[in-house]
Amino acid sequence: MKLGLDRRDAGVVSVDAVVSGVFERGEKDDTLPRSLAKDGEAVPGHLTAAWERREIRGRRKEITVLHRPAGKGRIVLVGLGPRSDYGADLTRRAAAEAVRALRGRGARTLAFRLATFVTEAVPADLAVRGLADGAVLGGYEFLRYRSSHDAGVEEGTICLGEEHAREEAALRRALDEEDVLLESVVRTREIVNTPADTATPEWLAEEARRVGKEVGVRVTVYDEKKLAEMHCGGLLAVGGGSAHPPRLIVLEYGGGARGGRTIAVVGKGITFDSGGISIKPAEAMADMKFDKAGACAVLGIVRAAALLKAPPRVIGVMACAENLPSGSSYRPGDLVRTYNGRTIEVLNTDAEGRVALSDALGFVVDRFHPDEVIDLATLTGACVTALGDDTAGLIATDDRLAAGLLAASAATGEPLWRLPLTDYHRELVKSDIADVRNHTEMKIAGALTAAAFLETFVGRVPWAHLDIAGPSFTTPTTRKWQPAYQNIGATAFGVRLVTRYLLDGGK
Ligand code: BES
Ligand code: MN
Ligand code: ZN
Repeated sequence: MKLGLDRRDAGVVSVDAVVSGVFERGEKDDTLPRSLAKDGEAVPGHLTAAWERREIRGRRKEITVLHRPAGKGRIVLVGLGPRSDYGADLTRRAAAEAVRALRGRGARTLAFRLATFVTEAVPADLAVRGLADGAVLGGYEFLRYRSSHDAGVEEGTICLGEEHAREEAALRRALDEEDVLLESVVRTREIVNTPADTATPEWLAEEARRVGKEVGVRVTVYDEKKLAEMHCGGLLAVGGGSAHPPRLIVLEYGGGARGGRTIAVVGKGITFDSGGISIKPAEAMADMKFDKAGACAVLGIVRAAALLKAPPRVIGVMACAENLPSGSSYRPGDLVRTYNGRTIEVLNTDAEGRVALSDALGFVVDRFHPDEVIDLATLTGACVTALGDDTAGLIATDDRLAAGLLAASAATGEPLWRLPLTDYHRELVKSDIADVRNHTEMKIAGALTAAAFLETFVGRVPWAHLDIAGPSFTTPTTRKWQPAYQNIGATAFGVRLVTRYLLDGGK
């Protein structure tokens, strides 16, 4: 969707739909809020009548569509719930609900009446970003494999009106930045949604090269021969069962500030996770094309950071392999030597993400000496059991880094919850015959033993691990309770969050 800003009132721009927010009304008689009076003028008599008859209540997800006379488009009112509970995520949700309600109804252009979405809690710049997020992400559909679909809104304009016209310059800057972030989110969603028959490790490397060319970032791809020379036994073991060999993909963005810090962002890129020899049951396998979401988020993050000239130098690393059972697969009981010489006792080939990441983490720490490492991985079902499918687990060895990521989470509405990592978890991943084991016999603290495993490959560098297994994709079932800006399929969780961190906290 194309986004724009207009300093005029929403009532005078020519669009198929004008969208306003309405807060939930109390029981007492109340008159039409002043912010909606102009919408009322556009549909003489109708809005006041609907208001007086209490057809409009302002409850969350409530959508009212009124037609202007003489085919001049529509007035759309979207419920925001109680004013006292309003926050930026409700702006996102409301914008997405409006855009989705208009799909297939012939509305191609839309204008948001900004003033109806602004409160003390959500200042105009946050409302602009929220409306942009909701409109673009709520309107997104994965269409590559569909021969027909209902047309939706193609152009969204945020109208400042007399209330906000004076803030035009600052609001335009906010929208321009959000636009770049959203382009990266959509790009990431497209890649994650692409199934494993097409989205192989080689294909991800080509995608990374395309992005690198587009935004002027250096891309280096290590193929299976190079990986063998570098002793990347983890990635080679995980990818050993597939006809599509593994790739380690490195993107280097030089940074916007001289002498700035170096931040490594590492992602799990399992193009399909069957479980390998420790094969998954069929139901658990259906969504496993999404197991590359972490690596694809890294691609989106580096793209956005480069276009927005984020201050730190950013090293993106995508650890890509396909986990399949075959005669050349790795097996339970195998002992694997990784890039930095540490060894892994493989006890379950379905705990493959940590094995693939072991080389990527060891490599980036050794080659680039980053000041901080952040990884994103659809790592454990245990994290989904603990936190649900809307929130990512955050495990961090550095409080400043954790605080920065939590601040970015609050700003972007991508929820994080910090979990502990102690010697108890470190003890559980010790192996009798190797440095570390990839599985424990006890089904306890699965998200944390996975983190304890990864930590051994990072060493002492400040590190944060985001387990995004829950929020990285939406299914037809989980879609029912997800916000309207998460359509079925990939969410690109982490792109807005980590880029925000690089822009604000990563200095
Ligand atoms: N990719 C999965 C984790 C996952 C589960 C992602 C659900 C998205 C949704 C991961 O590789 C995996 O299989 N983890 C195992 C680990 C276990 C064998 C220690 C799990 O969570 O069951
Ligand atoms: Mn697995
Ligand atoms: Zn996996």
